[in-house]
Amino acid sequence: MENGPQVDFLVMGAGVAGLRAAIELAQHGEVLVVTKESLRESNTHYAQGGIAVAMEGKKDIALHLEDTVNAGDGLVSRPAAEALVSEGPLRVAELIEWGANFDQAVDAEGHRLSGLYLRTREGAHSLARILHASGDATGAEISRALVAFARAHHRIRFAEWTRVAGLVVAEGRVMGADLASAEAAPHEPGAAGDNAPIAERRIIASSVLIASGGAGQVYSDTTNPAVATGDGIALAAEAGAELADMEFYQFHPTAFAFEGAPRFLLSEALRGEGACLRNDRGERFMERYHPLLELAPRDVVARAIALEGMADAPGSVAAPSRPVYLDMRHVRDVDLATRFPGIGAFLARYGLSLSRDLIPVRPAAHYLMGGIRTDLGGRTSLAGLYAAGEAACTGVHGANRLASNSLLEGLVFGARAARSMLAESPSPATAPAAPDFGPAARHLTMAEGERVESLIVALEASMWASAGLLREESSLRQGLVALGETDAALTEIAASGHTSRRLAEAQAMSRVARAILLSSLARTESRGAHFRSDHPHRDDANFRKHSALGREGSVHFEAW
Ligand code: SIN
Repeated sequence: MENGPQVDFLVMGAGVAGLRAAIELAQHGEVLVVTKESLRESNTHYAQGGIAVAMEGKKDIALHLEDTVNAGDGLVSRPAAEALVSEGPLRVAELIEWGANFDQAVDAEGHRLSGLYLRTREGAHSLARILHASGDATGAEISRALVAFARAHHRIRFAEWTRVAGLVVAEGRVMGADLASAEAAPHEPGAAGDNAPIAERRIIASSVLIASGGAGQVYSDTTNPAVATGDGIALAAEAGAELADMEFYQFHPTAFAFEGAPRFLLSEALRGEGACLRNDRGERFMERYHPLLELAPRDVVARAIALEGMADAPGSVAAPSRPVYLDMRHVRDVDLATRFPGIGAFLARYGLSLSRDLIPVRPAAHYLMGGIRTDLGGRTSLAGLYAAGEAACTGVHGANRLASNSLLEGLVFGARAARSMLAESPSPATAPAAPDFGPAARHLTMAEGERVESLIVALEASMWASAGLLREESSLRQGLVALGETDAALTEIAASGHTSRRLAEAQAMSRVARAILLSSLARTESRGAHFRSDHPHRDDANFRKHSALGREGSVHFEAW
């Protein structure tokens, strides 16, 4: 490995939080943004529904705060939520100035009515406040605007197809990162050859921001892209940073459930525009679960779908045997082709249409409310290390994130973390003495690569069965046993001295999975996205607190 150049700031992740932070940091220093695929491949890019923001002044902001707090089931950090909803409008206005185009009303001739933004409603929002772009491609538009703005900045450089192999910690402070080439998966174009050498280099930086998103890939059913393997969270934990609230994984109620198809997200905005849910007997079953029906909080809708899917039939929540459908056939006042062009095009590949067909759905892992514990300035428990966006846990979402608050979170807390980094980073960074790196690491052999793939598949299935929508002590303990076997096999493969992006991802997923299992075992109550069948009630006396996971795997609870 060689020592690479020194930079002022290193940002891991090119989603909304990482890019927004990079733009702020570049006002005062050189920034390197590292992403393991191309710039377009992030959770941000795939976000459909929109960005929740209160642009109409104080009353509007107060209502957004109330909805955020209510959705979080007693665990939202109020100062974090206040920062989100009150700074959100400024961050969105700035984004519009930088070129993001949100959908606007049009006059009779089809001309845009400037500044008159269209807004939709999603679950647990008391009113329609969600901006969207190109109908159902909000994340792609935000990503496009931020990438274009950041690319034009002379102090921001990008390292695509590059992964962070480890954080450099010296004198109790994170001082940079070791980077490695992040080759494509085996058999894909650009995949590294059998046992090929891996290019590595060390980058020294004044401070490091982890904005690498979530870890939906730890579950077999997820709406997340393949890159969401929890790498940043695992790296931070390995370096000694504290994780928090890892038991709270949000399951999106409506992922596409079609044999052989990916769990494509069918946006909550569909329900916001009138779609209802039906079981296989044609009943609109949400009437039995919540007064807000299909627009109830996400965790309630997801559990209702799972329960309907297993009602009076063999099967389990992990593998429900009865289909559940999203029904939009009755919606007449929305031009579905313009409002949901991306979803429409995807469904057409399977011969389905929103206006004509019942669309089969089931819940899938979607968003991690927990993550690397930070304060409101993105500071982790390790000096020199900051985190923002889905990888971080500020407590802003509590036990259950309000729909479409995540893009706003990335903007607000990405900017906040950058401001802390600017204020606190020692300058210039002092490089620790260059170690003797030895010969270049080599890629896994094909056989080792295949073994890693099968271990990943087993881990994902085990997590879905043991720590999915409904969990209980016995399932969580079984999950830990299975994970112990996976870990032993991964350690054996790593002992060959070979490595690869997929091996590193498997190790990261395993670390994140363990954190989810241990935190879920410790929280012996049900709250928000965490539902324990053996402790089905909320227990405020003991658990109106955040969980914190120490380095040695111990979990404690703290009010903050
Ligand atoms: C959706 O469009 O349903 C997803 C939005 C979100 O996760 O907040």
